[in-house]
Amino acid sequence: MTQVGTAEAPSFGFGIDVGGSGIKGAVVDLATGEFVGAPTTIATPQPSTPEAVAGVVAEIVSACGWDGPVGITLPSVVTNHTARTAANIDPAWIGTDVRALFAGALGGREVAVLNDADAAGIAEVAFGADVVREGAVIFLTFGTGIGSAFLVDGVLFPNTELGHLRIDGTEAEHLASSAVRDRESLSYEAWAARVDVVLHEYARLFNPAAFILGGGISQQADEWLHHLTLETPVAAATLRNRAGIVGAAMAARAHVAP
Ligand code: BGC
Repeated sequence: MTQVGTAEAPSFGFGIDVGGSGIKGAVVDLATGEFVGAPTTIATPQPSTPEAVAGVVAEIVSACGWDGPVGITLPSVVTNHTARTAANIDPAWIGTDVRALFAGALGGREVAVLNDADAAGIAEVAFGADVVREGAVIFLTFGTGIGSAFLVDGVLFPNTELGHLRIDGTEAEHLASSAVRDRESLSYEAWAARVDVVLHEYARLFNPAAFILGGGISQQADEWLHHLTLETPVAAATLRNRAGIVGAAMAARAHVAP
């Protein structure tokens, strides 16, 4: 168990990534983007209602002995501290004031809540390869859904939802998320062929300078990246599936910065 307080370690932050199957939190060294100690993971409660998830978030924060601000990601559009969508989470999230919810569950402390792919995108900008900070870049996460972050010279255009773009009548994430790969037992090659279709469509519409692909499956990028046929450069995310937590911790720090 990590016992790290903000007072002793001002460059540390705390991030929590709320996913479809697990809720994972860690202390983050904001100077390096590395975790301090092992992350704590608890299975996402079912149903994944706001109250149930907030309870797990409080449990993780307390298990880690963290008493500072907390950043939290959600697989939802978040505007004005309110969740607006709930594709892979309980529909009760829609319209929830997520800042008030988590602040309430965490003893009134400062919290920052943002979309999971946006959090991962800003972490890649801070700690990833140069290509992420140069020009118009589309960062994507492949997990339960497909998340997206649009980055222009490292600046985020938040709450893009490319996973829901329809391709031949099917939402991109229903075609090519990594959950679909598991569900349909697709080989890496067969799944990569679907990702290829999705990326060609994104390239046709948005013409980015590069795609950066993240999420858990980016850890096996050697197995499938070479099957993609795009002219646009494509690279695996550097922070792999650590990015959401790191970005959440960064957002919490930015939120409380003087
Ligand atoms: C959600 C996005 C989220 C993505 C990845 C999609 O279904 O609509 O908000 O970023 O999944 O979790």
